[in-house]
Amino acid sequence: MKTPTLPPCDHQPKPYSGPGADEVLALRKEFLNPAIFHYYKKPILIVEGRGQWLFDEKGRRYLDGFGGIVTVSVGHCHPHVLAAVNAQNQLLQHTTTIYLHPNIALYARDLAGKMPGELKVVYFVNSGSEANDLALLMARAHTGNYDMLALRNGYHGGSQSTMGLTSHQTWKFNVPHSFGVQHAIMPDLYRGPYGQDDPDAGRKYADDVKSLIQFGTSGQIAGFIAESIQGVGGTVVFPEGYLRHAYAHVRAAGGLCIADEVQSGFGRTGTHYWGFETQGVVPDIVTMAKGIGNGCPLAAVVTTPAIARSLAARIHFNTFGGNPIVCAQGRAVLEVIEREGLQANSLKVGTHLKDGLVKLAGKHCLIGDVRGLGLMLGVELVKDRQTREPAREECAFVFETCKELGLLIGKGGLWGNTLRIKPPMCLTTADADFLLEVLDAALQAA
Ligand SMILES: Cc1ncc(COP(=O)(O)O)c(C=O)c1O
Repeated sequence: MKTPTLPPCDHQPKPYSGPGADEVLALRKEFLNPAIFHYYKKPILIVEGRGQWLFDEKGRRYLDGFGGIVTVSVGHCHPHVLAAVNAQNQLLQHTTTIYLHPNIALYARDLAGKMPGELKVVYFVNSGSEANDLALLMARAHTGNYDMLALRNGYHGGSQSTMGLTSHQTWKFNVPHSFGVQHAIMPDLYRGPYGQDDPDAGRKYADDVKSLIQFGTSGQIAGFIAESIQGVGGTVVFPEGYLRHAYAHVRAAGGLCIADEVQSGFGRTGTHYWGFETQGVVPDIVTMAKGIGNGCPLAAVVTTPAIARSLAARIHFNTFGGNPIVCAQGRAVLEVIEREGLQANSLKVGTHLKDGLVKLAGKHCLIGDVRGLGLMLGVELVKDRQTREPAREECAFVFETCKELGLLIGKGGLWGNTLRIKPPMCLTTADADFLLEVLDAALQAA
């Protein structure tokens, strides 16, 4: 197999003198929770990162095509982000919101400035699960209703209540968790009943939301939550008009519409800053995490003043939410996205990459579907294009081979047969070409 050449990089990793991969693995096995999983048959030890590059303990360089699970938005160890965090670390690390601090206030203003309409009130928390927990509470507290709708194939977190919103057996424990939550069919043009050739697919899939309200609830609901593009579920992009129709049904039943932007926000889709904008809707509540902080434990919920007032009946407190350091980091991330035109870059490089993936689909019959927007892309592998039988083992092989050739990507979907490509948004066209060359070679070998 031909080994594609990595594009040049001027960063030299520092010599590493810590424990080796085998020792770290043994320590993990002995002292860490046994349910954490690792990628690759022989797991890799990553000790340094810069921009779109990752380095292992021996100094081997990899192209990061997954961004720490869609989290490293502006690039590893971005100098502007580092400077902001280091400066704040020297001054003050923590007090909570019982005292005033400028970072949380300035950052909330800047983040609210990125939101459309009345979405101007920000709550800071520490993870995507926590953000969705809070959104769920908000929807119920504001409407006085209990029933929630979510989508099949959605992922919203691993806490007790967000596990209920999540709809994938992979992530659900066999314990009671889905109190008052029901899942509508996933609007998946590749696997669902209405396909690419149906111009009315968005409305038809949304009819299931209406039907679920009519048959599965009292007719009055608390809300509806959906990712703007289903990430963990394998980069499923909804048909045009889907959220517009679904939101109309939800609002007619008294519910609030929640957009989970944990993966699709901050310019990643290229054409828009927020994933929901690609569907032409304005939600009532938006949750965000991952890319918001470029790797620090930062997440947020943004809503309208009217909804926030309903939650003011009790004190809302979160010890680490809006901590001075994470706010410095989050604010610096917003600045980098703006200054470096990373949304436009996601569009340019993402379009180039997607075109290349479509070309690969013309060459490799393993590829059943290429989908996604900007730098949030998915390649679904199938054993047979007619039956669409998931090519799980082949996907694992391609994924493993990509690593051998210097490219790290993700995989997902219920059957683990979709390659997920969600790199830091600083990816260049030359990097995209390398990624395509590697995929081509790995698919050829499969
Ligand atoms: C769309 C979406 N929402 C929520 C979450 C949960 O975020 P966290 O792992 O930070 O709790 C994830 C995590 O993958 C996600 O992809």
